[in-house]
Amino acid sequence: MQTAAISFDKFNALANQEAGERIRAARARLGKRAVILGHHYQCAEVFKHADLTGDSLKLSRLAAQSDAEYIVFCGVHFMAEVADILSRPDQIAVLPDLAAGCSMADMANLAKVERAWRELATVLDPDQQITPVSYINSAADLKAFCGAHGGIICTSSNAPQILDWSFKQRPKVLFFPDQHLGRWSGYQMGIPLGQMVVWNPDLEMGGLTAKQIREAKIILWHGFCSVHQMFQPTQISRFRAQYPEGRVIAHPECSFEVCEAADEVGSTERIIATVKASPSGTRWLVGTELNLVERLAGEVKPEGKIAQFMGDVICMCPTMQRIDPQHLAWTLENLAEGNIVNRIAVPAREAAPAKIALERMFSVS
Ligand code: 13P
Ligand code: SF4
Repeated sequence: MQTAAISFDKFNALANQEAGERIRAARARLGKRAVILGHHYQCAEVFKHADLTGDSLKLSRLAAQSDAEYIVFCGVHFMAEVADILSRPDQIAVLPDLAAGCSMADMANLAKVERAWRELATVLDPDQQITPVSYINSAADLKAFCGAHGGIICTSSNAPQILDWSFKQRPKVLFFPDQHLGRWSGYQMGIPLGQMVVWNPDLEMGGLTAKQIREAKIILWHGFCSVHQMFQPTQISRFRAQYPEGRVIAHPECSFEVCEAADEVGSTERIIATVKASPSGTRWLVGTELNLVERLAGEVKPEGKIAQFMGDVICMCPTMQRIDPQHLAWTLENLAEGNIVNRIAVPAREAAPAKIALERMFSVS
């Protein structure tokens, strides 16, 4: 039975410990009706309540497999949208704080991508010559654009495979919103840097000439992650000078120069698996968000391994941090009372083509 939603005001002032107790109590009331998915960048006080954890690819698969009535996503908005798109119509995806967006995802929007497509059409026939590829860090309507234009979605763990598929469809790729993931993945496939151009959505024709567009293999959207752009190659050279035996691992949202200087590049899940699988005594410099690195450092310390953060300053993802134990407690108590709060529901007209693009991704990777 639906009652009036409990206001968040009563939760705002809760200490983390009390919020944690209320999360546990509400979980017990909900039982199997709710599943909590947690991305690796969540803070410790939230992450410990997650039933299932992972990177974007793993979490989207888990959301699609879940049987729970409520999928409570401790992550960011686009992740909850993917959970809604891939789950059954009777399942409900919930984001504990609606302000948990992704600043990189916001760097591309449908109006700008459609304008780019129109402008590209003055030089070539995009529907015949360009496969649109959207990083999963994007709004549902951009995934729908890809679905409707023969395109596909990628994540940080499958981007080269997805590009390979894309080039089998059409000779060029428009990759949005993360230029760094696109550039690194293209480079991994052997595409010369000179054949990858950057499309600036604030300039006419993306700031490119018709010749540049005709000669490019990949047109990279001018988007980036403000967290990962904090990492610099000098941090790696300093580490190598101090610890010549040390190993370096970075997320592909880092700049090309950082990825090139690293020993390994991979998604959050791959970073964790690689550090955990390394021999005792290994020291790692890790280029991704601080919550992940601190948790990983604690987990591998007993095995005699060191995982140290690449940044000189604290760099956490501010929007991932919007999900705190207070919002999680508020969400779960409301659900336990029968009040659905912060539901993420993608309209069917977007969900259907977005699902096509996501399913293409699952069939390829
Ligand atoms: P992963 O898919 O590697 O977890 O990356 C998601 C993300 O937003 C990294 O900034
Ligand atoms: Fe978005 Fe960057 Fe945060 Fe990942 S770390 S969710 S890309 S802002």
